[in-house]
Amino acid sequence: MNSLFARLLRSYVVVILTAIMVTGAALSYLYSDREFERTERELVEKGEQIAFYFAISSSLQPTQVTANAIAATAQALGVGITIADRNGRPVMTTTNIPMQSLNLRAQDVERVLVHGEVVTRRGYEEALGEAAVTALIPIKRGGVVVGAMALHTPTRGVLDTLRNALNLLIWAALLAAFAAIAVSYVLSRRIAAPIRAVTEATKAVAEGNFDLRVHTHDPGELGALSAAFNELAARLGQTVGELSQEKQKTSSILESINEGVVAVDRRGNILLANPALRRLSPSNPVRGSLKEHPTLSVLWPSLEQSLLGEVGPHSELRIGESILSIHVTPLKDERDEVQGAVAILHDVTERHRLERMRRDFLANVSHELRTPLTSIRGFAQAILEGVVASEEQGRRYLRVIMDESMRLIRLVNTILDLSRIESSAITLNFEPLDIAEVIADAADSLEPLSRDRDIEILLDIGPSPIIHGDRDRVTQVVQNLLDNAVRHAPKGTRVFVRSGPADFDGEPGVRIDIQDQGEGIPEDDLPYIWERFYKVDKSRKYERGVGTGLGLVIVKEIVQMHGGRVRAANVPEGGARFTVELPVKRSADA
Ligand SMILES: Nc1ncnc2c1ncn2[C@@H]1O[C@H](COP(=O)(O)OP(=O)(O)OP(=O)(O)O)[C@@H](O)[C@H]1O
Ligand SMILES: [Mg+2]
Repeated sequence: MNSLFARLLRSYVVVILTAIMVTGAALSYLYSDREFERTERELVEKGEQIAFYFAISSSLQPTQVTANAIAATAQALGVGITIADRNGRPVMTTTNIPMQSLNLRAQDVERVLVHGEVVTRRGYEEALGEAAVTALIPIKRGGVVVGAMALHTPTRGVLDTLRNALNLLIWAALLAAFAAIAVSYVLSRRIAAPIRAVTEATKAVAEGNFDLRVHTHDPGELGALSAAFNELAARLGQTVGELSQEKQKTSSILESINEGVVAVDRRGNILLANPALRRLSPSNPVRGSLKEHPTLSVLWPSLEQSLLGEVGPHSELRIGESILSIHVTPLKDERDEVQGAVAILHDVTERHRLERMRRDFLANVSHELRTPLTSIRGFAQAILEGVVASEEQGRRYLRVIMDESMRLIRLVNTILDLSRIESSAITLNFEPLDIAEVIADAADSLEPLSRDRDIEILLDIGPSPIIHGDRDRVTQVVQNLLDNAVRHAPKGTRVFVRSGPADFDGEPGVRIDIQDQGEGIPEDDLPYIWERFYKVDKSRKYERGVGTGLGLVIVKEIVQMHGGRVRAANVPEGGARFTVELPVKRSADA
């Protein structure tokens, strides 16, 4: 049984019972009063009629006829009639109570017999031994009271009628109570149903389902409640929707940006961290206290400064391999109080790397330039100061100056070439290329050097597809690699050049192998030979092996511009092998 029903029922029953009891009490009071009055009136009326007999008779002792008439009246009315003399002593009675006990009371004698009043009363009569309505009527003869007549009727009859009425009332009350149960049940269901619907809907809203609506047809307060609830749910749904859309936007911005973002509260607990920040600490989850975070705790001092209201200097710090510039802003609430701080981390590793590269490059270039310049200056000075002993020596000095100048020019040209390639200032002239021709051209250009070093270049050109490429640049690639092979291998050795088809994930291409019989490249140096100015043999073992360390950088750049690949390896029989693979397609279409 739901409590609403119980409460409704209780109040209904209380109201109904109270109403019935009050009505019952009032009714029975009114009814009994009227009933008694009526009886009294009847008794007085009858009594006065009978008293009339005695007014015309000479004695209080009735005649047989009168006595019979009195007895008949008494029986018809259901009353007891007693006649008393002027002293209040009974002289005749229709009751079967002994006469002596029917004496009038002293105050009755006074009022009835002395003053000649009619007296009526209700209540317990000692003489009768029960409650009764009593009427005392003086018997007068010629204006003089000669006796009195008492008429009694027990109140039993009236009370019986009353009891019947009360019984009826009790039945009515019971009936009303049943009706109350039924009505309150129906009502409670009617009231409870919409309330329950609203309750259910409220729970749903609390769980985040704003689409639920309450349907009631109640025109009164419950209808208004449901309507208000529906309005509330709709507004809430709309507001929450808008909010979550905003949040979605913000978080997708945070997700997508490359800058790391972390927000903390006043105590340093992490409130938010975006994926870019989480990437800085792949091994430790980004949550809890930033102060105690194994990798990110370095951020705390900057954030703490901001929390304390100080504007921290724009600083850089290092997390793992990355160098990060950190920018911190305090998070303020609407009252302008600092509630937390947010740090934005910008990865400047690449910028640092480029700066370092530029510095290294400058240092390397200066170093490369200083050596030839120093020797040019030395020899020129010697000639100027006339320390040249012979013409032949003078010519030798001039040759050195010439060689070093050539080297300077070559170096500057190479640097310029490389910088043009790297800054994409050159455009490739793509044309169909037969790789066999390219190799033959390159080998021809290396002829003087190879003859000089007594090195034989052996070509093994297999059938391979025509590719699209820049003739001069591809020739430069083969030239640079052949130049290395000829210059970095000992005199009298051989260089093998092979070519054939290559495979680019199902796409056709060509492959060129250049292999020498020199010492190869130390395994430790292999990864670095592609870097600028990197030279394995810094002691310049071979006199002609003086290079800039830029040849392979140019090779790699050109090959990549053609969408190809290049790699170096040492061969087991001794010597290095460089392999270039170029696709048939132009790099732009690849
Ligand atoms: N075939 C090879 N055998 C042994 N070492 C080689 C070979 N090719 C390259 N190397 C090593 O790799 C280094 C880098 O080569 P790279 O061609 O870039 O520079 P370089 O030949 O010294 O100078 P240059 O700019 O004149 O070519 C060389 O200095 C050399 O030590
Ligand atoms: Mg070289």
